[in-house]
Amino acid sequence: MSLPEFELLPMRETDLDAAAAIEQCAHRFPWTRGNFDDSFKAGHSAWVLREGNVLIGYGLLMMSGDDADLLNITIAPEAQRRGWGLLLLDHLFTVARRHGATRMILEVRQGNDAALALYRHAGFAEIGRRRAYYQGKEDAIVMAHEL
Ligand SMILES: CC(C)(COP(=O)(O)OP(=O)(O)OC[C@H]1O[C@@H](n2cnc3c(N)ncnc32)[C@H](O)[C@@H]1OP(=O)(O)O)[C@@H](O)C(=O)NCCC(=O)NCCS
Repeated sequence: MSLPEFELLPMRETDLDAAAAIEQCAHRFPWTRGNFDDSFKAGHSAWVLREGNVLIGYGLLMMSGDDADLLNITIAPEAQRRGWGLLLLDHLFTVARRHGATRMILEVRQGNDAALALYRHAGFAEIGRRRAYYQGKEDAIVMAHEL
């Protein structure tokens, strides 16, 4: 697939408004601006994807020992299904390996078909479930991928 010019950069504080705005359109249970702030201040590994000068996606990882926990990966709705999600995920694999992680883990809402398809496509497999994890209503599927 031929992709237009893009950049993958560490998230800066000045990116938080744009990321939080995309978050509100893209998720059923979106992070708040405060959640982004907290994650940023906690020092999680946070990345943005820019196409030209426009922020079109972001991903955040929490490193804990051998595991890299994928906290959030989002592509702006108008930029989806063009390979950006896979490209960003691949970058996060590289970042996680660089931090010494041997596995990436994540939780995904069981009804989130697009995310489940992306993760399966990228090699993740289900390792468990958390019942009623999302607002006491919807299960989370726990997935892992050996790095
Ligand atoms: C999940 C998400 C990041 C995927 O990003 P994307 O850029 O659209 O994904 P890609 O174009 O890289 O897709 C890669 C592969 O994943 C699968 N896939 C992605 N979206 C899909 C969809 N809506 N339906 C079916 N398969 C899908 C396909 O196998 C696809 O390969 P293909 O296009 O060659 O068939 C995007 O849909 C998103 O941001 N969703 C909202 C936020 C979210 O739910 N994030 C994850 C939980 S934190």
